[in-house]
Formats: sequence, C-alpha cells, structure tokens
Amino acid sequence: MACVLIIDDDTRMCRVLEKLICRMGHTAISTNTIHDGLAEIHGNQIDVVFLDVNLPDGNGIDVISEIRESNSAPEVIIITGFGDGQGAEMALRYGAWDYIQKTVSPEEITLPLKRILQYREGLKKNRANPVALKMNEIVGKSTSIKNCYDLVAQAASNTANVLITGDTGTGKELFSKAIHENSARRDNRFVVVDCAALPETLVESVLFGHVKGAFTGADAIQEGLVKQADYGTLFLDEIGELSLSIQKAFLRALQEKCFRPVGSKNEIHSDFRLISATNRNLDEMAKAGSFREDLLFRLKTLHIPLPSLGSRTEDIIDIALFHTKKFCSQSRVGIKGFSPEFEVCLLHYDWPGNVRELINSIQSALSASLNDPVLLPIHLPLHIRIKSTQAKLNPPNGDSANHGLDIISQPQPTSFRETMKIAEKNYLKQVLSTTNGNITKCCDISNLSRSRLYGLMKEHQITSR
Ligand SMILES: Nc1ncnc2c1ncn2[C@@H]1O[C@H](COP(=O)(O)OP(=O)(O)OP(=O)(O)O)[C@@H](O)[C@H]1O
Ligand SMILES: [Mg+2]
Repeated sequence: MACVLIIDDDTRMCRVLEKLICRMGHTAISTNTIHDGLAEIHGNQIDVVFLDVNLPDGNGIDVISEIRESNSAPEVIIITGFGDGQGAEMALRYGAWDYIQKTVSPEEITLPLKRILQYREGLKKNRANPVALKMNEIVGKSTSIKNCYDLVAQAASNTANVLITGDTGTGKELFSKAIHENSARRDNRFVVVDCAALPETLVESVLFGHVKGAFTGADAIQEGLVKQADYGTLFLDEIGELSLSIQKAFLRALQEKCFRPVGSKNEIHSDFRLISATNRNLDEMAKAGSFREDLLFRLKTLHIPLPSLGSRTEDIIDIALFHTKKFCSQSRVGIKGFSPEFEVCLLHYDWPGNVRELINSIQSALSASLNDPVLLPIHLPLHIRIKSTQAKLNPPNGDSANHGLDIISQPQPTSFRETMKIAEKNYLKQVLSTTNGNITKCCDISNLSRSRLYGLMKEHQITSR
C-alpha cells in the first residue's frame, strides 16, 4: 500500500483524487498549501505527490526539486488547470514524472500512478539485493548519491555507453570503475584514456595504434588503447578535450567498433564498452560547435550526473570517517575520532574540490594531529577554517552584520565568469611557478586531478615551464 499526497487548494479536486487513490487501495493525504505539503513530505514516508501549479503560497513547479530531494524522494505528478507546453517542459526538467491537465479522465490520472508504483517496486527490489553491486570504496547515503547507485546498477547490467558528469573530485573515475567492476566485463581490462593529456600530434596513434614506419619515430608496431580495451571497458576521461577531428574518427570507431591504425591499410575490430566523463557542459559545447552533437547523442545513452559534495552535506562525515579509518590502518596507528567542533568545521565548508579535497584535508589533519587521538579544527588547513568560520558568520540568507563592509572593501568585478577566469589563470601560474612546473606537486597543492590540471593549462594556454 502506497502513501499519496495531494497538494491542491481546490478542495473538490482533492476529494476526487482521494477517492480514486483509495479505490486503488492506497492511502491519500490532502493539503492545500505548499507549506503544509512540505511539512507532510518531511515528516512522512510519501511515495507520490499530486502537485497543483498555482497555489496560495507559491508555484508548485518551484518546489519539485525540494520534494524529489527529500528523504523518501517521492515522484511528482503535476496536475494543473491551465497546462502549457513551456510549463510541462519546466516541470519535467525539474524532475516531475508527468504533467497532466485536471480535465483528463480518471484513467489518465490513475495510469501514471500505477506506473510509478511499479517502477518504485522495481527500485526497492534492486536496493534490497545488495549482492548485485560491489561498491567497496564508495560511501554516501544521501538521496542524490543513492540515485547514482541505481544508475550504476543499470549501467553494469548492460553495455550501453555511459556519460558521467560532475565537478572536479566528485568521483567520476571511481564510479566508472564501479560500473566496470560490477559488469560482466570485470575480468577484462579497464583502460583509462586521459583525453586532456593526449598530445594533439599523437592522439590518433595512442587511441588507434600505428604500424611500423607510419611516421618518423614509429620504429615498431603499437597497439592502441581502443584495441587494449577489447572485451573490456574504455574510459575516456575529460572527453570534452578531444579535438573535432578526433571526435569524428572516434564516432566511427564507436559506431562500427572498427578502426584503422595510423599507416595501416586494414581495419581492426575491438569490442569495447565505452564510459566517458567530463566536468564540462557538453550540451553547451555542442551548441557552440566545439563538440559534435552526433557523438554527444551516442555518448549519453545513459547519463550519470554526480552531485557536488556541498549539495549533499549528510555524506561529508561518513566519507571523512571512512577515509580516516583507511589512512589510520594504512599507517598502523589507532583510529582517531572527530571532536564535535571538527565535524562542524567540515560541515560548514563548501568543498569546491569535492570529495578529493575532503580526503586531502583529512590526510593533512591526521598528519598535523601527531599523537592526538581526536581531530580538532586546528588540525585542518587554515583556508578551510577561515571559510568555515566565515560561513558560520554569514548564513546563506545573507543577513550578516558586516555584509555592506564586505562589498565596499572588494573591487567591483566586471562579470562573475570573467573575474573567475582571471583568478583561475593567476592561480595556475602561481602554483606552477612555486612547484617549478612539477605537475604531481601542483595536483597535491591544488586538489586538482592530473587531467583537470592539464585541461585548465590547455584552456589558459599555460605550459609547465
Ligand atoms: N562517494 C565517495 N566515497 C568515497 N570516496 C570517494 C567518493 N567519491 C569520490 N571519492 C574519492 O575522491 C577522490 C576523487 O575521485 P575521482 O578521481 O573519481 O573524481 P573525479 O570526478 O574523476 O575528479 P576530476 O574531475 O578532478 O578528475 C578519489 O580518491 C575517490 O576515491
Ligand atoms: Mg577524474
């Protein structure tokens, strides 16, 4: 038996829906405002929400995301008296299951409800069967990350192309490995290609291989990475960095699973499964003409958008504890605990470098703590303590006392994007100069992955020397 919530200020409509739902054997709760509806959602286990658009205290569409991100993550059916195409698009983009008009027949109202309940039953069965997924290194219980686990399970059960997107350090490589390790290809190779680090002149031969004498320096035949992934998984990291000409060649290899090594007359075959990842917006790149639309269409047969760590604060302490245990056992010291202030500090920081930054901060706190059995804020890097303290003073609603002073003391930027680009470039130059161009050290200091660092250097036309 499912629990269905109705949020509609039209009480007559509430009664009609209640009757239909009860006749199907489910429980119905009605509320007439967004405020009361959200209170029900946050206090109960709700499976489905029938949500009106024009409500006395706001627009239903605006709260779809909040409803979907709540603990029981109910599906939302928008039910409106004044349906329009634009509203429908918005609703679906925000995560609604369906968008229907109040004038439709009772069957058209109950059908999406039946479908949702079947779908959720399937999800529950998958979740109740943990042997299906081996996720040793992946930690997190937030709704948004659990949705990603479902997608990993789906991806592992077939060979569809997968695109993983997310900001730096959100776990794109970790999740792609999890797909491979849970798939039928797990006993074959997982081949990583860092597209940002491929030199333009060699990219074709690195991917597709070459024959002896194909170009100066090609002294021997070389197998390409695409062939190495035969029967296994090919992971194209930072795929947004591939040039248009390589995108064209790769599209063909992806469609035909056949390609020609550089200098060869014959095509060879590779049965690879493709997973690609990027932190760039490929849709925007495709619109701007820098990424092939036909390739993008094929890459994202299944799309896994990884959430930022800042958007799922409930996972921060679990991930920090997991890595603390791991580091302590690796260095054979007793497991250290967290003081409450240490946890508060972790929770108040916004983690622009996501999980990678959190892990690095834990590692540096552990080494700063020496023989202390408990971690304190003082053990954390200074910039985290500063940001975290500032966040406590400036809550997100912006009602802090010194807000005005902050604005006066800052130079007025031109545009946000432009200002960030300049800061990014200056930062890269500074890190490269302090490390004398040592990429490994740059990655340690900046919390950037190697491929992300190369990508940024390429974007700003900076070299390591
Ligand atoms: N949910 C998680 N639980 C535990 N560890 C995680 C989780 N997500 C990521 N990590 C860890 O965070 C680090 C960064 O992950 P990963 O390299 O997969 O990120 P990425 O998205 O590929 O980053 P980039 O865009 O910078 O290449 C790794 O050490 C990984 O093991
Ligand atoms: Mg990566």
